[in-house]
Amino acid sequence: MRFPVLSLLFLFIISLSFHNPISAQCLDDQKSLLLTLFDSEDNDLSWTPNTDCCSWEGITCDSSTGHVIGLDLTNQSISGSINSTSLISISSLQSLNLSLNHFNCSIPSGLDSLSNLTHLNLSFSGFTGLVPIEVSRMKSLVSLDLSFLFSLALPSPDFGYLIGNLTGLRELHLDGIQISAPVPEFMVELVNLSSLHLVYCNLSGEFPSNNLSGRVPSSLFMTPSFKTIDLSSNNFQGEIEWLGNLTRLIHLSLSDNDFSGQIHSLSSLAQLESLSFSRNRFHGQISSLANLSQLSYLDLSSNHFSGQFPSLNSTCLLSLDLSSNSFSGRIPSSLFMIPSLRTIQLNHNQFDGQLDEFHNASVALSGIFLSNNKLQGQIPRSVGQLVGLSILDLSWNNFNELQIIDLSSNGFTGIWMVWGPLIFWANGRRWYYKQMDKLLIMAKAWWER
Ligand SMILES: *[C@@H]1O[C@H](CO)[C@@H](O)[C@H](O)[C@H]1NC(C)=O
Ligand SMILES: *[C@@H]1O[C@H](CO)[C@@H](O)[C@H](O)[C@H]1NC(C)=O
Ligand SMILES: *[C@@H]1O[C@H](CO)[C@@H](O)[C@H](O)[C@H]1NC(C)=O
Ligand SMILES: *[C@@H]1O[C@H](CO)[C@@H](O)[C@H](O)[C@H]1NC(C)=O
Ligand SMILES: *[C@@H]1O[C@H](CO)[C@@H](O)[C@H](O)[C@H]1NC(C)=O
Ligand SMILES: *[C@@H]1O[C@H](CO)[C@@H](O)[C@H](O)[C@H]1NC(C)=O
Ligand SMILES: *[C@@H]1O[C@H](CO)[C@@H](O)[C@H](O)[C@H]1NC(C)=O
Ligand SMILES: *[C@@H]1O[C@H](CO)[C@@H](O)[C@H](O)[C@H]1NC(C)=O
Ligand SMILES: *[C@@H]1O[C@H](CO)[C@@H](O)[C@H](O)[C@H]1NC(C)=O
Ligand SMILES: *[C@@H]1O[C@H](CO)[C@@H](O)[C@H](O)[C@H]1NC(C)=O
Ligand SMILES: *[C@@H]1O[C@H](CO)[C@@H](O)[C@H](O)[C@H]1NC(C)=O
Ligand SMILES: *[C@@H]1O[C@H](CO)[C@@H](O)[C@H](O)[C@H]1NC(C)=O
Repeated sequence: MRFPVLSLLFLFIISLSFHNPISAQCLDDQKSLLLTLFDSEDNDLSWTPNTDCCSWEGITCDSSTGHVIGLDLTNQSISGSINSTSLISISSLQSLNLSLNHFNCSIPSGLDSLSNLTHLNLSFSGFTGLVPIEVSRMKSLVSLDLSFLFSLALPSPDFGYLIGNLTGLRELHLDGIQISAPVPEFMVELVNLSSLHLVYCNLSGEFPSNNLSGRVPSSLFMTPSFKTIDLSSNNFQGEIEWLGNLTRLIHLSLSDNDFSGQIHSLSSLAQLESLSFSRNRFHGQISSLANLSQLSYLDLSSNHFSGQFPSLNSTCLLSLDLSSNSFSGRIPSSLFMIPSLRTIQLNHNQFDGQLDEFHNASVALSGIFLSNNKLQGQIPRSVGQLVGLSILDLSWNNFNELQIIDLSSNGFTGIWMVWGPLIFWANGRRWYYKQMDKLLIMAKAWWER
């Protein structure tokens, strides 16, 4: 088997090397269209008129015909306006990226005449005015990114009107556009959607709409094509039973909304790498997260979760935030051994019992926040073995009063004193403290002496 594969690869390399020298050159009419695109020459593009435009920065040509198929002018300090007539005359365009520029005009009109355009990215490009209604007719679009066009408005309050017919969309990013509408019901039709970013769009209502429950299962959530869903900072409500079938999800953020109910169904999301439910109104116990073995970021903070510490089985966890909930019981000592873990935020919960000694603790740990719990007993002596630590907050617990801890091996030279409900943390050579307390001030004065 090996020989045919190698010889195919060889032929492929040969054909590549023969292909390059004969790849077609830019067409003169398209070159002149490109040269009339921008009215201001004050940008970072160095397009030299008497050279092959297929070799210009940001231009991709079809290698056999020489037609311009891609224009990626990301972050080229382009300002002023764009000549719509010239742009839409480059009819072979398949991908257009004008992101991170400073245009001072509206989105070019007539984009729907670019019948082969599959990717349109205008994020952070400065365009203002209305989203042209023609966008709703660009049925070939696979990816649409209009994020962070802060002064852009939608042509009609019915958001579905714009997006509803773009059924081939795989990526839809509209972050920061004030849609100010109830739930986008149309999304049921977007069966191929894989990445959805609707951050800070002032969307409200249930997600997906209540109306959909009559037609369960909605096709959107039957098709497990989703990889990224970010609905942060809206006013979405309702429960999230729809999560269960999205088995390919990698990034999920629902933070800063009004979602509620219990979470039953996370075990099918085995590919998840980041999960944020922070600042919602979820409650109940969090069932096991042991299936989520790829998890790097977990943020369940500021909800009403209760019950025991959820079981985890990820060896790549970097950050864990369960703060401001009602979790209770012991903090498992295995938590501190997750090798990649950098920050642990368990503050403002009901955790109790003693903290176990930190044996085999992760050297990556730099921040541990356990304040405002009901922890008691001695602070583990082995806290001194957490060599990477720069912040440790144990304040507002029920630890034994007056303990002396040696943190010298953490790089915090000197002897530390802890007394009752005290915050103590240090970062490099600087000490910080939140709460006035005689002992802490003494320690600080001693340090600065
Ligand atoms: C944009 O380009 C400038 C240099 O021209 C660079 O400093 C900056 O980091 C770039 N921004 C992004 C987001 O790539
Ligand atoms: C736009 O470009 C076309 C050529 O494609 C040119 O004829 C026209 O004058 C330009 N319009 C503006 C406003 O510069
Ligand atoms: C659009 O793509 C099709 C198929 O690749 C191609 O035949 C056609 O010429 C393209 N249209 C333009 C205007 O380039
Ligand atoms: C520009 O946008 C296109 C389509 O969204 C994307 O494929 C490409 O990676 C982007 N370019 C940069 C430099 O991010
Ligand atoms: C759009 O381009 C930006 C770079 O400016 C990139 O970060 C972003 O991922 C692109 N959007 C899509 C949907 O590819
Ligand atoms: C944008 O263009 C308008 C006129 O079209 C002009 O009044 C305004 O000053 C421009 N703004 C910037 C930041 O260039
Ligand atoms: C969507 O497509 C349907 C059927 O082709 C059409 O009747 C409707 O007007 C289209 N909507 C928009 C906003 O283009
Ligand atoms: C969804 O994607 C599949 C596979 O790429 C494709 O065959 C199908 O036509 C797409 N559906 C829509 C509505 O574009
Ligand atoms: C958010 O949307 C509501 C209507 O759903 C509207 O009354 C409110 O003004 C919007 N807020 C902003 C900041 O646009
Ligand atoms: C359900 O849909 C109807 C019409 O499409 C609409 O008037 C109603 O407000 C929707 N109800 C909810 C709860 O979204
Ligand atoms: C999940 O998919 C199954 C079939 O694959 C379906 O019976 C169930 O209703 C779906 N659940 C949701 C919430 O869409
Ligand atoms: C923990 O994850 C590993 C894969 O990383 C898996 O083999 C093992 O079964 C998981 N354990 C539990 C209890 O889920």
